[in-house]
Amino acid sequence: MKVFLAPMVGRTDKYFRRLARIISPNIVLFTEMITVDSLIRGRSKQYLIKDEEHPLVIQIAGDDKNKFIQCTKIISEKGYDEINLNVGCPSSKVIKGGFGACQIEAPMKVAEYIDGIKSHTKIPVSIKTRLGLGYKHDLRDIIDFIRLTSEAGCTTYYIHARNAILNGISTRKNRSIPPLRYNDVLKLKKQFPKLQIYINGGFEDINDIKEMLGVYQGVMIGRKIYNNPMFLIEIENKIFSANKNFTLEEVVCQYIDQLDAEEALNKLYALKHLTNLYKGTRLSKKWRIYLHNLINSGQPIENLKNFYKENSYEEKEIICS
Ligand SMILES: Cc1cc2nc3c(=O)[nH]c(=O)nc-3n(C[C@H](O)[C@H](O)[C@H](O)COP(=O)(O)O)c2cc1C
Repeated sequence: MKVFLAPMVGRTDKYFRRLARIISPNIVLFTEMITVDSLIRGRSKQYLIKDEEHPLVIQIAGDDKNKFIQCTKIISEKGYDEINLNVGCPSSKVIKGGFGACQIEAPMKVAEYIDGIKSHTKIPVSIKTRLGLGYKHDLRDIIDFIRLTSEAGCTTYYIHARNAILNGISTRKNRSIPPLRYNDVLKLKKQFPKLQIYINGGFEDINDIKEMLGVYQGVMIGRKIYNNPMFLIEIENKIFSANKNFTLEEVVCQYIDQLDAEEALNKLYALKHLTNLYKGTRLSKKWRIYLHNLINSGQPIENLKNFYKENSYEEKEIICS
């Protein structure tokens, strides 16, 4: 039984992943989507991972077999636990580059990338995709896609349970306008009983997630966790029976203590993902203002701990259990 933090550009960077890992030892983390070109050109240090991050999946996207092979070598050295190909992104920039969701219609090419990656590493390879393209609710294309790419050796698929609509609506609207079709994901699961099919899209309620875990061996969750990171506590306690009980002060202090000197200087990036930490509590507004002021001040990041000197009484009431 697995719960995955969905890859999210601008969100699942190393800072948010660290926060997520402090709260949830059991969730499987994903990086943001990284294009093969950025990975090849990037500073090697940028993609180093820390021991606590495992299990950690790296998501890559591209349209060139040799570059995928080059990336595979880099990824193997760094120690990621799985390589995931993005074949679901509907962004116009990504589509112009010839990758993302439009590759659902190019299964033979994706099969070649899978073959190239698999012949250079033993790290598991997976694909994250959608149910299809456009407004038609026909599963033929995605069935062909899964059949051909699995023949090349891909055994694991994360399915965002909606279509991608290219050249019509924004990336953001592509996460709400195409309807969720959980039943069609189930059809795929039945069609490919030997493959690992995980479901993603629109999960917000812990009971719905539990129910899905009775059907699938894994559920992937994105926005609900980013918009309320403490939802991870519910996941720990109600899915993994972890019986965790701690205060947000403990989470924040651990987070600050784990930053290295360079990260601590990068205040905006290090603090922006903490914004939603007090969501739904009466400290929420005070917390956001405190973060904003700290980011824009000359004070060290360590001063975030002073928030608790000023609000210790209220904080103690917000026990996470
Ligand atoms: C801000 C943002 C960035 C995203 N970036 C990626 C990405 O890099 N790769 C990817 O496969 N999906 C990306 N997604 C889609 C999510 O992984 C996920 O499939 C989608 O949000 C549906 O899951 P949810 O309803 O649980 O959020 C992104 C979603 C959001 C909100």
